[in-house]
Amino acid sequence: MKINIFIVLLIFMAGCGNSEEINTETEIAQKDNQAAEIALDRDGSLLSESRFLNIAHRGASGHAPEHTLVSYQMGEEMNADYIEIDLQMTKDDTLIALHDDDLSRTTASQGAVKTFDIDEIKAYDVGSWFNEENPELAQPVFHQIEIPTLEEILKTFGHDANYYIETKSPETYPGMVEELLEVLHRHELIGEDIREGQVIIQSFDKSSLLEVKAQEPSIPLIKLLNFRDDEAVLTEQEMDEIKKYAVGIGVNHASLTKEFVNKVRREGLLIHPYTINKKEDMERLISWGVTGIFTDYPDRLETVLENYSSQEK
Ligand code: G3P
Ligand code: CA
Repeated sequence: MKINIFIVLLIFMAGCGNSEEINTETEIAQKDNQAAEIALDRDGSLLSESRFLNIAHRGASGHAPEHTLVSYQMGEEMNADYIEIDLQMTKDDTLIALHDDDLSRTTASQGAVKTFDIDEIKAYDVGSWFNEENPELAQPVFHQIEIPTLEEILKTFGHDANYYIETKSPETYPGMVEELLEVLHRHELIGEDIREGQVIIQSFDKSSLLEVKAQEPSIPLIKLLNFRDDEAVLTEQEMDEIKKYAVGIGVNHASLTKEFVNKVRREGLLIHPYTINKKEDMERLISWGVTGIFTDYPDRLETVLENYSSQEK
């Protein structure tokens, strides 16, 4: 009899333990499913959690050759909040806007950027490939376009624009961060006199972000992540590590889940997925609470945002 009572007691205690576990798991699941606040504000601080950022990826690169002044200009006209710039550096230490570290995809030449001086780089046409590959979008003005330097971009768009700058392959270019900060200083784009978030620096390379932070702690940083074919996951420890130096993350959008977006937002980090060009994907990610989107079509994103806002009212 005594043994039977003991067994019943054990089963009861085990049951209590399980229900506590289940409650905790349910609570976590409920928290993950709680939608993050949808960011829809189109003015106010660029770094506010309720502000949505339309980031013109390589300019309006769905309409014009990427990383050209005309592509950036189109992005501005389409009401993008940021011109996104990928940086490479020439042999004579000039920062230029180019996605790849070699010339073959977007010019008729080939070879690593780091093996050319700026005068040589300036001889290459970075527009004609676009006309050839996109006959329906081709324009005479896209023919014979020079690769722009960072200096030229900042001189052209000045203090009206906001810049979302990526240090590409910084390990290939010693001195890249110093040069970038020098150029930003020359254009008075660092310090208290600029808009909060007017210049954001992004990188897949943590050490280059830490270098920026050490020299210019006022510049907001975004850590880029690429989970490739896997679902996006960050441990608490990884999230805490990122929070030490960055205001947010940029993530390949196909890896995202609603739960991940919620988790990142709960931690107080901004989240800017790349690169979203389909209307349906834009709508879904907005509804999940992302705080900005990199897109080749800032005009399309603007329309989605307007429709979304009017439905919300
Ligand atoms: O910077 C965000 C996104 O642009 C990263 O991808 O390859 O287009 O620079 P990528
Ligand atoms: Ca980029």
